[in-house]
Amino acid sequence: MLVLLDQTRLPVEEVELFCTDVPALVQAIRTLAVRGAPLLGLAGAYGVALAAARGYDVGQAADELAGARPTAVNLSYGVRRALAAYRTAVTGGADDTGAAAATLAEARALHAEDARASERMARNGLALLDELVPGGGYRVLTHCNTGALVSGGEGTALAVVLAAHRGGLLRRLWVDETRPLLQGARLTAYEAARAGVAHTLLPDGAAGSLFAAGEVDAVLIGADRIAADGSTANKVGSYPLAVLARYHNVPFVVVAPTTTIDLATPDGTAIEVEQRPAQEVTELTGPRPGPDREGATGIPVAPLGTPAYNPAFDVTPPELITAVVTETGVASPVTGSSIAALAARPGPV
Ligand code: MRU
Repeated sequence: MLVLLDQTRLPVEEVELFCTDVPALVQAIRTLAVRGAPLLGLAGAYGVALAAARGYDVGQAADELAGARPTAVNLSYGVRRALAAYRTAVTGGADDTGAAAATLAEARALHAEDARASERMARNGLALLDELVPGGGYRVLTHCNTGALVSGGEGTALAVVLAAHRGGLLRRLWVDETRPLLQGARLTAYEAARAGVAHTLLPDGAAGSLFAAGEVDAVLIGADRIAADGSTANKVGSYPLAVLARYHNVPFVVVAPTTTIDLATPDGTAIEVEQRPAQEVTELTGPRPGPDREGATGIPVAPLGTPAYNPAFDVTPPELITAVVTETGVASPVTGSSIAALAARPGPV
């Protein structure tokens, strides 16, 4: 059984979600009960381990898990790694129990690697901030949620923010609410408050005036997929921030583990951007209040039947990204060769 913190219920309730089979996990991924690129990788790997332990058709379960959401490449990476471990064990003559144990061990190894990558990203990101914004007192703007909720460790962009906070270098974290599913308001504000980080929530549309007022020193965001040319898919609303940051001469930094780099995707146009239901835009849903309200509709904010454009992600071209920070180092300027170099360097052991 896989036990998840149900992120759809935060910040109102901390409720565990028990996934006893693969369809339940696929559903948890689709509904964003479990979400965020690195965590999707872990969920995928543990899902394959669950399939092996339950005696399912492991190859089919792997396909279902990998296809649950299309954009974050970490999901298919985690699934692939666990599946490879399963197949190696079977080929090596392991019985069902042995193959399931080998698959679980691989998922746990990925989990531990992700935690170590988080620590390294925090260190690399902090050193970069020191170069980009000398003197500390950082006012950092972030989008979506990139903390411990999405990682085996403290996350990606938020891990850098937390390191700055601990070092007494952070003046303020500006948190975009992140419409329509409010990952910023519900999750990043929740994590920031728990860590004692000085933070302020803003509607996504208020970011422009914040830049214009000179209140932002750097933008730090995560990524769901970084293509070979450095184009970066992240939560919808990231690209407009990059445009704003360029206009206002503010560094725009992507923080992600190398597992988010996909050299098989040549550029931004090749990234599949997940389209989500119109209802997420035409209704205010907020945190889901409980299982008894499963399927409950939210508060309508548009006339019934209004068509909506609701891509879950957008793609920022490399020329708008100041730097990509991974556990293996920093790519700046962001080019095909600097991204390839990051992906090729050995990660933490
Ligand atoms: O739709 P979500 O909530 O899974 O989207 C998550 C994001 O866009 C995050 O910014 C990204 O996965 C990076 S998490 C370290």
